[in-house]
Amino acid sequence: MTRIETLTKILEDYKVKDANLLKALVYLGEGSHKITHLLENYISHTYAGTQNQSGDEQLHLDIDCDNAIFEAIRESGVFSIAASEETPVETDVSPEGDDQEGFFSLGFDPLDGSSIIDANFSVGSIFGIWEGKGVLNRTGREQVASAVTLYGPRTTLCIALPSKSTDYGKDVVFEVTLTKDGSMWEVSRDQITIKAEGKVFAPGNLRASNDNEKYNALIKHWISERYTLRYTGGMVPDVYHIFAKSKGVFTNVSSEKAKAKLRLLYEVAPMGLIVECAGGLTTHEAHDGSVLDEKIDHLDRRLGVCFGSSEEVALYKKFMFGN
Ligand code: F6P
Ligand code: MN
Repeated sequence: MTRIETLTKILEDYKVKDANLLKALVYLGEGSHKITHLLENYISHTYAGTQNQSGDEQLHLDIDCDNAIFEAIRESGVFSIAASEETPVETDVSPEGDDQEGFFSLGFDPLDGSSIIDANFSVGSIFGIWEGKGVLNRTGREQVASAVTLYGPRTTLCIALPSKSTDYGKDVVFEVTLTKDGSMWEVSRDQITIKAEGKVFAPGNLRASNDNEKYNALIKHWISERYTLRYTGGMVPDVYHIFAKSKGVFTNVSSEKAKAKLRLLYEVAPMGLIVECAGGLTTHEAHDGSVLDEKIDHLDRRLGVCFGSSEEVALYKKFMFGN
């Protein structure tokens, strides 16, 4: 069986309701396969001499990965609009002359962790899928599916299907792995769930603890309680660690001097859906509320977050909001 056939069969087994959504996910798999190949053949760290809208220097690789996903979704024929961290405008990707009935919109980060790529750390792609045309003024909760690809020693794709998108009977998260020769996908974790507790922490934007006293107190608490540190500086591997170990907490908290930098559309909403579909919790850094209820009122909206095991997120809230 081919790569497309294997992922199609797996998604059918997970009872994805809509054939177009199934196809959308299969083609995100195709884009991820292409990126795997780009990363395997990436040798030197060359800048394209351009900046994205956020002012980050773009690598040739950032642009190639962005193009790989745009190509894959155009080929799928089931997307109408896409916006990415590298192409931060709602871009028409629908097949020519089509009326776009039953199509999807995509928000994505083609290569999260480009600042650690030269160190050969694991990096990832992040995808959020919405029904209809457009991603602005939507919430993460409205997504019909989301996925992340982790490019490490193996390429794995973790897919979240909320119950409204499957006849499986409940929210489901699972992982498929690309075979070594890149020719097929195989199920490698059939159900990813997050336990209520887990003394593993991934404290992002740690410099904020210098002028955010509450964050500082929480970090000290984690250390005094002998939590295990697992942090690479790449959001995908750092949150994925929670999926792999079924426990833990990830934070990216801001302060006056160290602003929030995670993007709601491209990073937080898709990742947040996976966390919640796996039974974990999410909250906005500054108020008690799921990140899935935050409105994407700006393509570049940024926020601080806490993700993970429900008791660990509750502990975060206690320290940060006094709940
Ligand atoms: O996209 C932003 C990002 O690179 C994330 O992948 C990662 O979680 C975060 O920045 C790391 O931030 P910091 O280095 O401040 O902990
Ligand atoms: Mn990113």
